[in-house]
Amino acid sequence: MSGFVKICPLAEIGEDQPMAVEVDDTPVVLVKTNGEVFAMNDICSHAEVSLSEGEVYNNTLECWLHGSCFDLRTGKPTNPPATQAVPTYRVKIETGEDGAEQVYVNLAESSEYGES
Ligand code: FES
Repeated sequence: MSGFVKICPLAEIGEDQPMAVEVDDTPVVLVKTNGEVFAMNDICSHAEVSLSEGEVYNNTLECWLHGSCFDLRTGKPTNPPATQAVPTYRVKIETGEDGAEQVYVNLAESSEYGES
């Protein structure tokens, strides 16, 4: 039922530097790359490790343990050993009253880029 939850100022997220956050007790990783911000579940679908400790590579986030890369838009792995997608979440950026851009994540809606 939860809608968009305010996470942090956009300026706090470094380009291509995955950032782990908790949203309603769910581990989420935020990635800013090429001017866009993406959110996905921070747990690899192959084993229980934190994707936020991996590296951003060509619009994917690479799991540091076995090297599967997860598409930032779809959460789907682009190479083995992972075969299951990681949930992705909708992100919006809004300018607050102080003029700073804030990042919001909506856990209830997975992001479906390309459809809307
Ligand atoms: S734990 Fe992520 S690919 Fe194996």
